[in-house]
Amino acid sequence: QEIGAQKDLEGKKILVTAGPTREAIDPVRYITNHSTGKMGYAVAKAAALRGADVTLVTGKTDTPKPRFVKLIEIQSAADMFEAVTAAAAEQDIIIKAAAVADYRPKSVGTEKTKKTEGDMAIELERTDDILKWLGAHRREGQFLCGFSMETQNMLENSRVKLDKKNIDMIVANNLKVEGAGFGTDTNVVTIITRERNLELEKMTKEEVADRLLDEILAVSADK
Ligand code: CTP
Repeated sequence: QEIGAQKDLEGKKILVTAGPTREAIDPVRYITNHSTGKMGYAVAKAAALRGADVTLVTGKTDTPKPRFVKLIEIQSAADMFEAVTAAAAEQDIIIKAAAVADYRPKSVGTEKTKKTEGDMAIELERTDDILKWLGAHRREGQFLCGFSMETQNMLENSRVKLDKKNIDMIVANNLKVEGAGFGTDTNVVTIITRERNLELEKMTKEEVADRLLDEILAVSADK
């Protein structure tokens, strides 16, 4: 497969984000999520095998790193925002598979927080929406793809995101479907574009990656 891959992305610059973000509470604690980065890594690998010049911006994960990509390792949503926006202008395609925190602790302690007898609360503030920034600053012809995880009203909620974030494609998965979502080697997704909903059966994340790159090429060719 690695040798036989069709080089249909030769000459394209593709940025992929993957994995979770970590939002510090104090020097020893952080808030994160269950993302393993597997889906985004599969996309980065498939794109590289198909000849693209790939940059992978990734949060901390144990998933083996794909080879033949430019790797940028980050921790927080703010780090990812910086890395992605700095590299965005030169990209032909940006695929945002990362599970970016929507909120971070409002103040980060410089010392370890000590426990007290009573309850405690952590005040959170919004992070910047990277995909929304990309949609607002994109250059002519740049293709933007986001991911969306839903537990209800998946298609409706995801289609709203296409418009709100001014992007071309959303890969939606329903977390409640078996074989979809975090940590699994398979996924069950619907690829949503302005033109159509492409519902894919359960397949490996590698297969999903190739199908989504196929769809990006198909939609771009129609424009
Ligand atoms: N995303 C981003 N920057 C953020 C948050 C999310 O770029 N600060 C991107 C993700 O990488 C993903 C997409 O936006 O591609 C997910 O959209 P989002 O609206 O954040 O999804 P949810 O968090 O599921 O939305 P909601 O909380 O409204 O359900």
